[in-house]
Amino acid sequence: MDILKSAAERGMHFIETLPDRSVAPQPDALAALDQLDIPLPEDGIPAEEMLELLDRVGSPATIGTTGGRFFGFVIGATLPATLAANWLAGAWDQNAGLWAGSPIGSQLEVVSLRWLRELLGLNERWGGAFVTGATMANFTCLAAGRSALLRNVGWDVERDGLFGAPEITVVIGDEAHPTLTKSLGLLGMGRERLERVPVDDQGRIRPECLPRLEGPALICLQAGNINTGSFDPIRQICEHVPPESTWIHVDAAFGFWAAASPSRSHLMEGIPLVDSVCTDAHKWLNVPYDSGIALVSEPQALRRAMSFSAAYLPETERREPSHYTPELSRRARGVEIWAAIQTLGRAGIREMIERNCRQATRFAEGLAAAGYEILNDVVLNQVLVSFGDAGRTRETIRRIQEDGTCWCGGTQWQGRTAMRISVCSWATTDDDVELSLAAMLRCAAQS
Ligand SMILES: Cc1ncc(COP(=O)(O)O)c(C=O)c1O
Repeated sequence: MDILKSAAERGMHFIETLPDRSVAPQPDALAALDQLDIPLPEDGIPAEEMLELLDRVGSPATIGTTGGRFFGFVIGATLPATLAANWLAGAWDQNAGLWAGSPIGSQLEVVSLRWLRELLGLNERWGGAFVTGATMANFTCLAAGRSALLRNVGWDVERDGLFGAPEITVVIGDEAHPTLTKSLGLLGMGRERLERVPVDDQGRIRPECLPRLEGPALICLQAGNINTGSFDPIRQICEHVPPESTWIHVDAAFGFWAAASPSRSHLMEGIPLVDSVCTDAHKWLNVPYDSGIALVSEPQALRRAMSFSAAYLPETERREPSHYTPELSRRARGVEIWAAIQTLGRAGIREMIERNCRQATRFAEGLAAAGYEILNDVVLNQVLVSFGDAGRTRETIRRIQEDGTCWCGGTQWQGRTAMRISVCSWATTDDDVELSLAAMLRCAAQS
């Protein structure tokens, strides 16, 4: 058991020293990774020796994503309470595919699903699944949508597949996340066989450009554009399309949590009218990887798409998680989601979302006041900034990453090179923001 204590102590030391270290690993830490590249060992080493090696070489070669000054990608940190729940659940080593494999894992999914429904104002008919991330959550929701749409026109896609099936029109915005296209490809919808709808300068679908729909249609909307944070006009689109032959899905990988904030919940207006919505818990709910959530208004469609039976697998009257997920064996992801909501409560989630949004606005104001151009309307937690021409913006990003006070990445937004700032960590304090802003301005002035 000493090895577990040692791991906990090393983990705690890592987290406690995070604020004092560079957010990006130093070159010598990256060079040291070669020490791990040894031939297949004939004999093992003691566990403590392994842990010492992992900590000595591994910890410095991490990116400080779980601290308060990482603003890249839309990553999210880990709340200590959820990490603690994750450690305990790791010790349990549950197979949460079945009630029989993990009563506690199954129960926490049921409770978490109910809480998530309440957070979004969804009725109790809605069901869902806990998967690895938004890519798989999109896939899961869309599999349910495919099943429901084809069943409505007399086709059993689970039994008969897609060859010879009635056509489904698939509509997505021009600024949909690329993993949504990938999920559609995995479902046999074709990555290129999509009706792409033009968007406005914030990346929002222009409802007047939606195609005329005839027959089954899968409409994919977005709540939270990866660059601007903008939301498609969900309610307006729901009211525009024929409900009986359409399935409306919303990719809300991080925008989902706007629903918890009184000042942003209008962005999620219309969600109860859609058929499915997905999010990441490992992003803005700040639980450990990997954790995504699929919510579906017709759980029986999801069940049709995902369930299977085998003589050796016991079935109970209870909700069997694997009837709703692509996987059978899986870890008990509901534990950390439950732990986050149980410890934060509605008020804590609201506080975290509102604080991060306010901090994003502060970044935008500070950068604009110094003469740099903000390319987006800061409606949520995302800021796009240009430091001048493409070369100067890229050089500023390089310097910021090298400086190590904070970390931001680059992007292209509608033909412009920009730096993205994404604020989505429970750990980000206002001091972190001021320190990071000063570093950004310093690096920009040197570029
Ligand atoms: C809008 C959107 N959809 C999907 C994804 C993919 O999420 P994941 O990496 O968890 O699969 C992301 C990731 O940033 C996203 O922002």
